[in-house]
Amino acid sequence: MYKGTLIINKGFTGETGNKVIADGDADLVAFGVPFLANPDLVERIRKHAALNAPDMATFYTPGPKGYVDYPTLA
Ligand SMILES: Cc1cc2nc3c(=O)[nH]c(=O)nc-3n(C[C@H](O)[C@H](O)[C@H](O)COP(=O)(O)O)c2cc1C
Repeated sequence: MYKGTLIINKGFTGETGNKVIADGDADLVAFGVPFLANPDLVERIRKHAALNAPDMATFYTPGPKGYVDYPTLA
């Protein structure tokens, strides 16, 4: 019934994100954890490259560790 732009999230991959949009169930997909662990997430999805595994021990912690130190693709 909602007629505005619908952004969905929680647990999406590139594949499932594209599918939910193609199916017409959402307009945009937001990524949280995958973007945190992969600063180059868009490029990795585009290339179907492997993703860095997130380190949940660094979630909700102060300081830069776990926020700005994940590697990009070589
Ligand atoms: C470390 C961390 C911090 C977050 N901080 C917030 C926040 O401040 N506000 C918020 O609405 N969601 C916050 N979230 C939730 C994300 O925005 C997102 O809803 C959630 O990670 C689910 O999407 P995902 O499966 O793509 O990660 C946070 C998630 C993580 C992992």
